[in-house]
Amino acid sequence: MRYHFNAMGVTHLSTKTSRGTPSPKTKKTFYITTPIYYPSDKLHIGHAYTTVAADAIARYKRFKGFDVRFLTGTDEHGQKIERRAKEAGKTPQQFVDEIVAGIKDLWSLLRISYDDFIRTTERRHIEVVQDVFEKILKKGDIYKSEYEGWYCVPCETFWLERQLEDGKCPNPDCRRPVELVREESYFFKLSKYQDKLIRYIEENPDFIKPASRRNEMLNFCKSGLEDLCVSRTTFNWGIPVPGDPKHVVYVWFDALTNYISALGYGRDGEEFRKYWPADLHLVGKEIMRFHTIIWPIILMALDLPLPKQVFGHGWLVLEGGKMSKSKGNVIDPVVLVDKYGVDAVRYFLLREVPFGSDGYYSEEALKGRINSDLANDLGNLLHRSLGLVERYWDGRVPTPQAGDTSMADYAREVVKKYEEAMDGFLLSDALTTVFSLVTRCNKYLDEEAPWAKMPRGEEAAASTVLYNVLESVRIVAGLLVPFLVETPEAIWTQLGIDESPRGKRWEEVVAWGGLKPSTRTRKAGPLFPRIEIRTQDAHPSTEGGAGEAGSELIDIERFKELDLRVAKVTAAEAVSGSKKLLKLQLDVGDGIGQRQVVAGIAKHYKPEDLVGKYVVLVANLKPAVLKGIRSEGMILAASHGEDCLRLLTVDGEIPPGSGIS
Ligand code: MSP
Repeated sequence: MRYHFNAMGVTHLSTKTSRGTPSPKTKKTFYITTPIYYPSDKLHIGHAYTTVAADAIARYKRFKGFDVRFLTGTDEHGQKIERRAKEAGKTPQQFVDEIVAGIKDLWSLLRISYDDFIRTTERRHIEVVQDVFEKILKKGDIYKSEYEGWYCVPCETFWLERQLEDGKCPNPDCRRPVELVREESYFFKLSKYQDKLIRYIEENPDFIKPASRRNEMLNFCKSGLEDLCVSRTTFNWGIPVPGDPKHVVYVWFDALTNYISALGYGRDGEEFRKYWPADLHLVGKEIMRFHTIIWPIILMALDLPLPKQVFGHGWLVLEGGKMSKSKGNVIDPVVLVDKYGVDAVRYFLLREVPFGSDGYYSEEALKGRINSDLANDLGNLLHRSLGLVERYWDGRVPTPQAGDTSMADYAREVVKKYEEAMDGFLLSDALTTVFSLVTRCNKYLDEEAPWAKMPRGEEAAASTVLYNVLESVRIVAGLLVPFLVETPEAIWTQLGIDESPRGKRWEEVVAWGGLKPSTRTRKAGPLFPRIEIRTQDAHPSTEGGAGEAGSELIDIERFKELDLRVAKVTAAEAVSGSKKLLKLQLDVGDGIGQRQVVAGIAKHYKPEDLVGKYVVLVANLKPAVLKGIRSEGMILAASHGEDCLRLLTVDGEIPPGSGIS
């Protein structure tokens, strides 16, 4: 007889046999899981981090042709939830139902592409937990005894006296009071499996990643495993132990089983046979112990294969430490998505935290990433290259000539490095690699200066440069598919490609040459509008409102956004039909090359007086067209009223292109 606890109380379910032996896999499958979340509080940006990371990995594997199963869900039992429900004047079931609905909304806002969402209050889960418990009990690896020790309710963790710190929970992010528990309990023989687990960890170097966490877990095992208390009797909100319903199953034993209950372990077995063992359990570092010690031993006791890898990622922390409701410093992902858009938030999360280590969150850092990587580097590259296509190639992708393979070679290398990073789940490394291609493109465009080649009649060379940049951007969009959910499509649309990179075969997307010459491009607005970073944002503690003098100040980072260069005037002429404008040709050194600038200085300087002068150029200003002439930057001048204007020059000779700071 089985017991099933639901909101109505205890019901009886029929006995089912378990048939869960996995068959050899015939298809390339990939089973990835996130931890299942406690629906005790609203989820914050730190929680979103685990799930967005898992989503990027799942999307990458699908892109690579794997049959992916991506599982997430909620961990709904235990004393903590029971207490929170009571405080809220609700039944535990009502309480969790409301929060779980909010969690699902958050995942759809962040476009999490999970294939299954398991709730530990679902019948399909409860039945499997009871089966598993009973199987291990019958085997003799679970036995009844008396527990006396300490319990931390917020962490749902048992602690030994010697593990406590000043009598409190030793978890550095908790340190709350623990409760003395003395009750009849079932125990799970972790000690019996200690040596087997140590051997397994030692023989399978990929089982626990990164390596630092593997060593930590090995040391923990070697220091000796104590049998684990796996039932409680002092509260009700849990899965009743089969045949002994005054006990409920310990919440971690219950929760960990979700990874196989969701596949129907012991039921029809189809999905279990197909996807188990899991390829990757992605978890935060603080719950590694549960996933690399308790969970493998449950599986060993069931004679099931162990997951191929448990990856412990780092935390997203604030300056004051880890985010937590008790510290009152949680950041709501819904607010951020609303303000900055889903792709900006996803990008920030996966770029900012080197995968495996901790990373800092601040809204300034988020805005900084949006401005520098997404708006300036990527957005601007697309915008300026499509601008050139419109101006010189009538809005059609130019035809490349054979010869210059530098960008194709670079892109191929980037794809290789990206795959290596993604295959090791090093997400921020993969993004860094993608953006190295963006940076390379910007530099290549500056160096090759197709706008200067065109007037010199070097159209074939200029066409090749432009094609190489556009084709690289097409590949960049493809590589961003696992990370961003709207931008890759937006880039391909502007490049004039009618399909979406999502859903196309990986090999086809990353192979050089996919962009067809003569395709009509569709230049549109900026991919990511720049975010205004106000002084008050950068220094939240600064007193004073927007109207006060201090608010006009900018910080050094903002100043550094200007690319100021020494430029030598090589030619100057009047602009016909204008009394104010002169057209100047500037030498801006090897890095940037030649630039043409239209300046409103005709009333103050004769063209012949300017040749040979060293002036100051704002080199990263968006090009503009004045009287039908393209102006690629601006030269600086001081002015006093209408009649007095003096160009800024440098005090003596210095190579053109030298930076100004
Ligand atoms: N219910 C357990 C997991 C059971 S899995 C069988 C649990 N839930 S949780 O809601 O507290 O945490 C879920 C995940 O969010 C964990 O991987 C945790 O590490 C992650 N994060 C919570 N705060 C975080 C940050 N500030 N930064 C990064 N990840 C964080 O633990």
